[in-house]
Amino acid sequence: MAYWQDQGKAPTACVDTFGCQQNVADGQRIMGMLQTMGFTFTDEPAQADLVLLNTCAVREHAEKRVYGNLGALTHTKKANPAQVICLCGCMAQQPSVAKKVRESYRHVDLVFGPHALWRFPELLYQVYTRRGRVFSIDDEPGTIAEGLPVVRDKGVKAWVSIIYGCNNFCSYCIVPYVRGRERSRDAECILEEVRGLVAEGYKDITLLGQNVNSYGRDLGTGMDFADLLARIDGEVEGDYLIRFMSSHPKDATPKLFDTMARCPHVARQLHLPFQSGNNRVLEAMNRRYTREKYLELVNYAKDVMPGLVLTSDVIIGFPGETEAEAMDTVSLVREVGFDALFTFIYSPRPGTAAAAMPDPATRAEKQVWFDRLLDAQNEISARQHAAYVGSTVRVLVDGESGDERWPLSSRTNGGRLVHLLGSRDLIGSFATARITDANTWALFGEAVE
Ligand code: SAM
Ligand code: SF4
Ligand code: F3S
Repeated sequence: MAYWQDQGKAPTACVDTFGCQQNVADGQRIMGMLQTMGFTFTDEPAQADLVLLNTCAVREHAEKRVYGNLGALTHTKKANPAQVICLCGCMAQQPSVAKKVRESYRHVDLVFGPHALWRFPELLYQVYTRRGRVFSIDDEPGTIAEGLPVVRDKGVKAWVSIIYGCNNFCSYCIVPYVRGRERSRDAECILEEVRGLVAEGYKDITLLGQNVNSYGRDLGTGMDFADLLARIDGEVEGDYLIRFMSSHPKDATPKLFDTMARCPHVARQLHLPFQSGNNRVLEAMNRRYTREKYLELVNYAKDVMPGLVLTSDVIIGFPGETEAEAMDTVSLVREVGFDALFTFIYSPRPGTAAAAMPDPATRAEKQVWFDRLLDAQNEISARQHAAYVGSTVRVLVDGESGDERWPLSSRTNGGRLVHLLGSRDLIGSFATARITDANTWALFGEAVE
């Protein structure tokens, strides 16, 4: 801060986050640290004293976008040579990326991975005082920094990370390489954070982890994820909902579903990524469950939680996947009847096991299979949504929809989007909605007394 006082003005930062909610949560902590250092925020890179890209490495497309953005920053830096450019997040943790940035993106001043997040102020201080480039991408296993400041979005939704890293090494996935091994946060710290959020007025809180079902294994306290959910539900009072993502099917248990069913604060929503409906492909992905085990799990969850909203992640075109195997994925989608899916075409990630596997299917073939998957899911989503029409549901009104006819945006307990006709005074509170219309992506309704 003293550095900026010497410059006689308050500095501005532009923070751009890519990737999953965990990265969004990390971005909010980075903004918290910047705010504590005296920065204010802008969305315009050209007006910022500091630009920070918080990146994702999960698919090639995500990385390409970041390189495109980094390239554009040569112009802002040319116009303002004092501008400091930072690259962090999952891409930055990869040695090959750091090498490329060191050699070809010489306008980037600071590169650090998720392991060094908590050291950001110290690293930035080095940049400002030495005016030299700083790279911090060493693995620092086991570090969890509690108590970092956070700049959260205004409104009703908040994210709470409960476990960092991943031990699963699904053969297609870069995450374990860039986020390190699983580290669970102390339960008391999580409870305190959730209690604080509810007291501040947040009403829709999502617990985050690459596999929340692993929560507690490394702590040795005997407490598992279902126990954590039950403690939050029982000990944090107030009118709020708890959601979580993601759950790995190999670790999801009837105990978890029974706990969800009996805890009134826990939303009736389950994001349970299955990735493929074919057992050979699941084995090659190193997912460690079968199609049959997955079906057994979701059937149990649906039995104990009527009205459960189910979503999932799916990959089409894994190396060696045949058309028949891809169609097993489509048939599983039809059999389960998901409310929504996050669908991806396989993207090779250098250094992962799958990147070395033969991949004979063409991109055009994979696109055809992918389109069939989308058609199947769109039909199912439209049908699931149509079934809401005529019903009355409790929703949490979270903002404006931008839609003239239904000006409010809201979510059901299960997380489905409802465009709502009602007073703007409802924003930030729970309301009752009569559903009058639906399409593939959303429900439409009016607020009722
Ligand atoms: N940990 C979560 C899980 O296992 O369900 C999600 C991890 S990842 C951030 C989110 C999704 O991206 C995965 O579920 C998977 O469907 C997709 N994904 C990961 N690696 C991919 C790759 N190489 N190509 C395409 N999709 C990928
Ligand atoms: Fe990636 Fe698998 Fe870990 Fe999810 S569980 S982050 S897909 S390795
Ligand atoms: Fe998330 Fe992308 Fe990293 S999905 S964990 S930001 S690789």
